[in-house]
Amino acid sequence: MKNDIKEILYTKEQLDIIVKRMGAELSRDFAGKEPVLVSVLKGAFVFMADLVRQVTVPCTVEFMAVSSYGSGTETSGKVKIIKDLDTNIEGRHVIIVEDIIDSGVTLSHLMEMLRERNPASLSLCALFDKPERRRARVDIDYKGVVVPDEFVVGYGLDYDEKYRNLPDLCVLKPEVYTK
Ligand code: IMP
Ligand code: MG
Repeated sequence: MKNDIKEILYTKEQLDIIVKRMGAELSRDFAGKEPVLVSVLKGAFVFMADLVRQVTVPCTVEFMAVSSYGSGTETSGKVKIIKDLDTNIEGRHVIIVEDIIDSGVTLSHLMEMLRERNPASLSLCALFDKPERRRARVDIDYKGVVVPDEFVVGYGLDYDEKYRNLPDLCVLKPEVYTK
C-alpha cells in the first residue's frame, strides 16, 4: 500500500486535533437539542466514529448509503439511495457527517431529499473540502480542512474500495488510477 502513496497530507494525530475541534463546535451548538448525526457511507465511517466520541451532548447516529463515484475518480452526477435512514427525522436536528465535499453534486441532492422530510434543522459537517472542483452549491456549516485538488485516500476514503484503512490522509500516486 505504501508504494502507492505520493505524500501524507494530514497525519492521524493532526486529524485528531481537527476532529476534536469539530466535536466541540457541535457540542456547543447542539446542547439540549439531541441531534441525529447522519453519516454517508462508506467514506465517512472513520470520521463518524472519531467525531461522535468528541460530542459531549446526547445524540443518535444513523447511516445512509448513496451512490456517487462507482470505481473511478469522477462523480456520476445522479444520486441513488442505496440504504435509507432507519428513523423518521421530522422535527429532528439533523447533522450530515461527510468525509469530503468534491463536486458537491452528491451532497446537494442528498440535502434536498432530507429537507423534504421536514427536519427541525439540517446542517452539514464535512472533514475535507476540495473547493476547486465544486459544481453544485454546498454550504458547509462545520468544516475540517481544505484539501488541494488531488485524489486523496485513507482515514476512510478509498480508491476502488482500497486504502480506507490507512490512518493518515494521503495523496495517491496518479499512476495508480491512470494505469
Ligand atoms: P461529490 O459529489 O463530487 O462531492 O462526491 C463526494 C464523494 O466522492 C465523497 O463523499 C467521496 O466518497 C468521494 N470522493 C470525492 N473526492 C474524493 C477523493 O479525493 N478521494 C476519495 N473519495 C473522494
Ligand atoms: Mg462519501
